[in-house]
Amino acid sequence: MLELIGIHKSFNRGTVDEVQVLKGINLKINDGDFVTLVGNNGAGKTTLLNIIAGSLFPDEGKVLIDGVDVTNLPEYKRGRLIGRVFQDPLMGTAPSMTINENMALALKRGKRLGFKWALGGNTKAMIKDSLETLSLGLEERGRAGVGLLSGGQRQAITILMATMAEPKLLLLDEHTAALDPRAASLISELTERIVGETGVAAIMVTHNLSSALSMGNRLIMMEGGMIALDAKGDEKKRLTHEELLAMYV
Ligand SMILES: Nc1ncnc2c1ncn2[C@@H]1O[C@H](COP(=O)(O)OP(=O)(O)O)[C@@H](O)[C@H]1O
Ligand SMILES: [Mg+2]
Repeated sequence: MLELIGIHKSFNRGTVDEVQVLKGINLKINDGDFVTLVGNNGAGKTTLLNIIAGSLFPDEGKVLIDGVDVTNLPEYKRGRLIGRVFQDPLMGTAPSMTINENMALALKRGKRLGFKWALGGNTKAMIKDSLETLSLGLEERGRAGVGLLSGGQRQAITILMATMAEPKLLLLDEHTAALDPRAASLISELTERIVGETGVAAIMVTHNLSSALSMGNRLIMMEGGMIALDAKGDEKKRLTHEELLAMYV
């Protein structure tokens, strides 16, 4: 469903500060793939996700979604195809709005309907049902401001919001890294459940090697702007923590 062909990206081109960040990335993601993406800081993981989402454009190469060339399509025009969750729990939700309003906005992204409609009866029930699946009691707090919630609660809502509009691809960039261990493990479980239930293709960046090994059907390691390892299916299952750690060196 996603194909990257010969992606190159540099920053500060033609200056002394020029850095070549992506050096010819070729990658095909299939429907239902759940990829865990690892690699040292600076390997180019976030830049790659930015290029997939359209927040950055490559210097060379092509991005295809379902065979359609979207290389030059701006981010807002790909928005309906791609859901994103960032490391910072504050990024995904609007603090001055209520839980219900945030969720309604996310629903509206998928359907071209007015905001008023979006808070109508049917939608309210959908939002309540959706919040119930979190088992965090948030379905009773729909009118509470999101700014009052913990990081873990906000990140849980952000994942719901990112998948509500039924995107084709979910991009998760170290989305548990800023959370305490309990919240992080809750969000990891939630991620597995939602990706499993919706069948959305996903790319999850993580520094947690146990999560990278246990989650998903495919593990990719980036190193210096290139793909150093792409282990699928059984090959991924056989991969051990020690082997993966050794590859970092
Ligand atoms: N906007 C930018 N301008 C200049 N350099 C950047 C910019 N964004 C990222 N970089 C550099 O690109 C490299 C890769 O960054 P990034 O994609 O964020 O790596 P990762 O997510 O794997 O840690 C780093 O050396 C970083 O400093
Ligand atoms: Mg990053």
